[in-house]
Amino acid sequence: MGLYTFLSRHPLLEILKHVIVTAGLREYLFAVSCAFALVYIYRLFYSLFFSQLRHIPGPLIARMTTKRVELLTIAGKMAHLGRWDHDKYGDIYLCGPNAVALCDPADIRAFMGNPAVGKADYYRILEFTEIETTVTYRDNEPAGIRHRQIGPYFKPTYLARMERTIMSLGIETIKAKWDGLIDASPDGAAEVNYCNDFLISAFGIISTLVYGKKVKELSNSDARTAEWIDMTMMYLSVRAMFLLLPPFIMKVLLSPWEHYYHTLSNYINDAIKTRTELIAQLKQEGRENEKPVDMLQALFEGEDPETKERMTSKQIHGECMLMMHAGSDTTSHTIAWTVHLLTLYPEHYKRAVTEVRSIFMPDHIITYKECRAQLPFIEACIYESLRLIPVTGGLLPRIVPKGGLMIKDYYLPEGTIAFVNTAVANHHKTYWKNPHEYDPNRFLDNKELQHYILTFSHGRRTCPGKSLAWWEMLTILSNILKDYDFKIPSDLSHLGPNVLNKVGAPDAANQHHIRPFLGLDSGMSIKPLCILVLLQYLLGIGEGRL
Ligand code: HEM
Repeated sequence: MGLYTFLSRHPLLEILKHVIVTAGLREYLFAVSCAFALVYIYRLFYSLFFSQLRHIPGPLIARMTTKRVELLTIAGKMAHLGRWDHDKYGDIYLCGPNAVALCDPADIRAFMGNPAVGKADYYRILEFTEIETTVTYRDNEPAGIRHRQIGPYFKPTYLARMERTIMSLGIETIKAKWDGLIDASPDGAAEVNYCNDFLISAFGIISTLVYGKKVKELSNSDARTAEWIDMTMMYLSVRAMFLLLPPFIMKVLLSPWEHYYHTLSNYINDAIKTRTELIAQLKQEGRENEKPVDMLQALFEGEDPETKERMTSKQIHGECMLMMHAGSDTTSHTIAWTVHLLTLYPEHYKRAVTEVRSIFMPDHIITYKECRAQLPFIEACIYESLRLIPVTGGLLPRIVPKGGLMIKDYYLPEGTIAFVNTAVANHHKTYWKNPHEYDPNRFLDNKELQHYILTFSHGRRTCPGKSLAWWEMLTILSNILKDYDFKIPSDLSHLGPNVLNKVGAPDAANQHHIRPFLGLDSGMSIKPLCILVLLQYLLGIGEGRL
């Protein structure tokens, strides 16, 4: 049924028509529609003839509004959109009246490497606690203070002190669970949902480090923290989509997730209170050298060497929320993608297994240091997953600083939003041979290439958690490749290994199967949300928020 037929027959539409006619709203609606039409015509006219971005190619609609990007982002098509537009318009193209997208890795590195480039206003949607955090600072000055406060605690030397937590809740917990399943199976084989197990173990690690309490979710099948995070993320996304709705409507809309958000928030408050008391007690008893070594302690102690500033309790709370979100599924999905890609490419799988099994014995747990020193191919496998399927692949919005910038012969005036298109940059033909193919060897042949992967971002606002992520990814992947043989179950043969398309790339149609399955219900279907967003946009609310 066509959309028009569907709409014209829909009973809700009949009711709406009736309400409009009986309430005498026809003239009013006509006037409002004309006003909107005039605004958009003016925008089109201005952007075609007067805007400083008028020579930059791009879809016509982008000259009037950013809504195309916003709607397709909500529909989960951000990376697809980036690819379509890049194929059609090239390395720099328009995606809003005042917004462009950058796709060439060299341009992106130069742009993001410019210390004056700040973040766009879009990031305020991530303000979890009405307070700015590392990720939401648009201004680089306070962001710099925060990076200097937390930076030292993300360095391998401090991470090494947290190694026991990372290993015991990461690889050791996964191994205990899988070994248990194999021992209980009559044929020595077990079916595992590795995506799920990696996710819960990443939640376990980060929540233990951030809350200062041991969370053993994988071993006791308690997915409470994971559920909180998932639901809190839903709460924040919905809140962001409807930022401009009246508060009482917003409250009703958010009600399915509000409880989770507050529970998580209270849990963090408790953790901060307990740690404050512990620090005071240790100080009083002269046992300061016994203070815990984890991320929470790092947030308490982090001091900017330039301003001598430390974080307030509210700021610590915000950072705890942020780290839970930034540091869990990003890491676990990268490991899951690597395993999936290796099952799709048996020759790489064989090489990775041979590398690790020729060096380490079955009863040995490989450490991070050993991975870095002795497993270059496995490391290359992770680099290649970060490149091919960047879990953060999308459009990162930044602002062109004072004085404007020249990029690819185009002048971008101050204040232009430049979306960094990481998904496309990681597949750029100029830098990557056979870009859609999973080929870890490219990093062995040329180590320099590592620097062109933009999955952790680049420049002043690069991901501070990447060393922690690498620690988890390498230790989990190398140990499971050493100890287990992977095979896709016969009833899931559509997942591999023979699902590569003509260019040797993983068949995109099947990729949704790798998504984590936690068995959690988001409480509301995404379709009504999209319709509400669409209505909000049709009414013109929220224009230009990106
Ligand atoms: C494979 C794993 C990870 C990937 C691919 C990743 C990727 C990224 C990317 C692309 C950004 C920039 C976002 C933007 O500018 O919009 C970012 C920022 C950030 N990440 Fe990660 N991340 C990972 C793991 C982690 C971990 C484990 C943590 C900490 C526990 C973490 C903490 C952060 C923080 C605090 C920021 C904000 C930095 C700023 O804006 O100045 N990330 N990450």
